[in-house]
Amino acid sequence: MRLTPGPAQDIDLDSVDLFDLDLYTAGDPHTVWDVMRAKAPLHHQVLPDGREFWSVTRYEDVCRVLGDHREFTSERGTVPTHLGTDDAAAGKLLTSTDPPRHTQVRRAIGAKLTARAVAPWEDRIRRTVVRFLEPAFDGGVFDLAERALLLPAMVTGPLLGIPERDWEELVQLTAMVTAPSDPHFKQGGEAATLAIAHHELITYVNEWVTRRRASGGDDDSLLDHLMTLRAGDAPLTDEEIALDGYSILLGANVTTPHTVSGTIQALIERPGQFAAAQADPALIPNLVEEGLRWTSAACNFMRYAVGDTEIGGGTIPARAAVVAWIGSANRDELQFPDPHTFDITRGGAKRHVAFGFGPHFCIGGPLARMTLRIFFEEVLQRFSAVELAGEPEHLRSYFIAGMTHLPVVARTRRTS
Ligand code: HEM
Repeated sequence: MRLTPGPAQDIDLDSVDLFDLDLYTAGDPHTVWDVMRAKAPLHHQVLPDGREFWSVTRYEDVCRVLGDHREFTSERGTVPTHLGTDDAAAGKLLTSTDPPRHTQVRRAIGAKLTARAVAPWEDRIRRTVVRFLEPAFDGGVFDLAERALLLPAMVTGPLLGIPERDWEELVQLTAMVTAPSDPHFKQGGEAATLAIAHHELITYVNEWVTRRRASGGDDDSLLDHLMTLRAGDAPLTDEEIALDGYSILLGANVTTPHTVSGTIQALIERPGQFAAAQADPALIPNLVEEGLRWTSAACNFMRYAVGDTEIGGGTIPARAAVVAWIGSANRDELQFPDPHTFDITRGGAKRHVAFGFGPHFCIGGPLARMTLRIFFEEVLQRFSAVELAGEPEHLRSYFIAGMTHLPVVARTRRTS
């Protein structure tokens, strides 16, 4: 998705199609969302097949929709690619469960993913990041977006307990779930791609658990943790283990790569910001936050209104779907002055909602933040510049904002 918007446009909001995939590959969604925030902060759309959804685009409204499960439930599904089909995993999959059950399971899983719990993984992640960057060391053309798809698997694979030989397949399957219409990932139609990927991923986790039980093995991995944790005084059911393992795999694989490539693209376009971060590495944590805000890789999440609900100057009818546009909230001028300027010294960048808001706030946030910090520390330390070496190609998805190709050349830093 284009992250630096072009000039403002006069947009007819009645004919805007927020599920038009071309908008995210060749269009300019930020110019559309700018007009929506200003003129129609609550927007209604009916798709040609009759499915309908409401959209909120302002920061305050996005926080309310994501944050208040009494008004907006997660239990009928949260991913817009599933709009119109109630989630069969409601109440069992962490992301599709409301409190109080959500709180019990989340607390138990989250214990392994707090900033303190992931801190000991720093050295291992740094070694992984250096290995990830190795193909760029010779100064040749390096497709960062393509290779970045492997980064979370390289980082989270060992933490989850997944062997290296399975990474590529799992990366492909998780990309199929989130961008089922992208030509790089689709297998037949969109529905078929989603069904195949979902089935294969659940089967993968189930088989992993069966093998682990048969071998009697146990280590400190996240999947082992899912098998042994107790939530509300009982272990997770096998179905919950499979679904939550799937959800962690998905959450990890499909977002961090696009934050990496979108932030590097922003730095390529603004060499002054690259130089500033290099001159003062203390800016790197803020660079990470600004990169998260700027890229908003999880472009939206969905909820369903529980009752008739007033928001954004209108009323969402009971049981209707509402999409909270995170990408727009993170460019809301009331929260982020001059929002379309990428500024690694921005104050308050951390208020972004790239990790969501409220009870479902990204459970992998500390791990993602640490991975991104290490990534930029290594890039800035090893390379004097990164340059564009070809045309970027955008992911064909209205759910995940990202790129499939970003050819770059990295200039190795000379040390005297
Ligand atoms: C830059 C990287 C990431 C971004 C932008 C991101 C974004 C998000 C967002 C917006 C949500 C909220 C969903 C909602 O409100 O329904 C979320 C939840 C979640 N994320 Fe992430 N995520 C990232 C990295 C990760 C990683 C590394 C993991 C796994 C280790 C992960 C696992 C999850 C899970 C399991 C949830 C569901 C939490 C719940 O329902 O309580 N994410 N993520």
